[in-house]
Amino acid sequence: MSAGERVETLRWLAGHGELEMIDQRVLPARFDRIRYRCAAEVAEGIRTMVVRGAPAIGCAAAYGVALEALRLAHRPAAQFHAGLAEAHALLAGSRPTAVNLGWALERMQAHALALGAAPPTSVAAALLAEAHAILAEDIAANRAMGVHGAALLPDGARVLTHCNAGALATAGHGTALGVLRSAVAAGKRISVLADETRPFLQGARLTVWELLEEGIPVTLITDNMSGHLMQRGEVDAVIVGADRIAANGDVANKIGTYMVAVLARRHGIPFYVAAPLSTIDLRIADGSGIPIEERHADEVRGFGAARWAPADVPVRNPAFDVTPADLVTALVTERGVVRDPCRATIAALMA
Ligand code: MRU
Repeated sequence: MSAGERVETLRWLAGHGELEMIDQRVLPARFDRIRYRCAAEVAEGIRTMVVRGAPAIGCAAAYGVALEALRLAHRPAAQFHAGLAEAHALLAGSRPTAVNLGWALERMQAHALALGAAPPTSVAAALLAEAHAILAEDIAANRAMGVHGAALLPDGARVLTHCNAGALATAGHGTALGVLRSAVAAGKRISVLADETRPFLQGARLTVWELLEEGIPVTLITDNMSGHLMQRGEVDAVIVGADRIAANGDVANKIGTYMVAVLARRHGIPFYVAAPLSTIDLRIADGSGIPIEERHADEVRGFGAARWAPADVPVRNPAFDVTPADLVTALVTERGVVRDPCRATIAALMA
């Protein structure tokens, strides 16, 4: 097990029949875990960002369905299936941008449907097994991405990342941070520049915590410093994760990613996106069709209990932006590296 897998963003407590998740709202000040017993609780955990990051919320949603199925397993079949449909709708509405959430829910639904008229207790057991499979496959995908992506980074590379696409954002190892972890494991000397990632501070709180825990050299910068450092030749590559990739290769990721991609192009720096196939949404033709979550204004007016803006100032708080495919040097997936992603190369990857 790699250090990135030991983080255990989500874990199943078999003895209790409960899901436990690291509370990512309070890291790094505290390391707390919260237990979940039903779909409504998991949906609230996703909505309030106890768990965040596209693959991690997909896994959480899968366990949310499994928990609900176990809770209702002794009800009559009609009630059981109605309860599962309600759980599905509740979880699907918890956050809109990361497609991994809907992907995992559809997979759970298809699994239940395939079992036909099996008794609810058997369906519940099968849904729990499916949630375990989604979690295990995510770790395997991240490790494969790590191997493919590490080959793109030269020894000594100074790599900038935005947000947290690490173990905390996945079932383990991470996507963008997984590539960095794998490069380090392969003996490359890698140093990381972590964007703080306003307003929720995933970079300052989570990416920095993960990398420090593991002894990978990391330097924290505020989001408005990356252009300056690129201009001075202090960045060799950028790597980020993704929440949804459209059929033409446009990438939705944490707000601010687009700015970084434009700057990277201006300075001739490769801009890599690491994401599993479950993040690719062929049903959306291009980035303009990706739903962008708007979060509460207070996230911009301050952080936690601290407030630095007038309480009544109007605020915009889009949580994601879209980087056009032509700014992406390569997409790193578990199936390999796609250079210059576009409609044709993405279609070939998914075929
Ligand atoms: O709002 P968040 O923290 O859920 O946003 C997370 C990101 O934007 C990540 O970069 C993305 O989900 C990829 S995680 C492997």
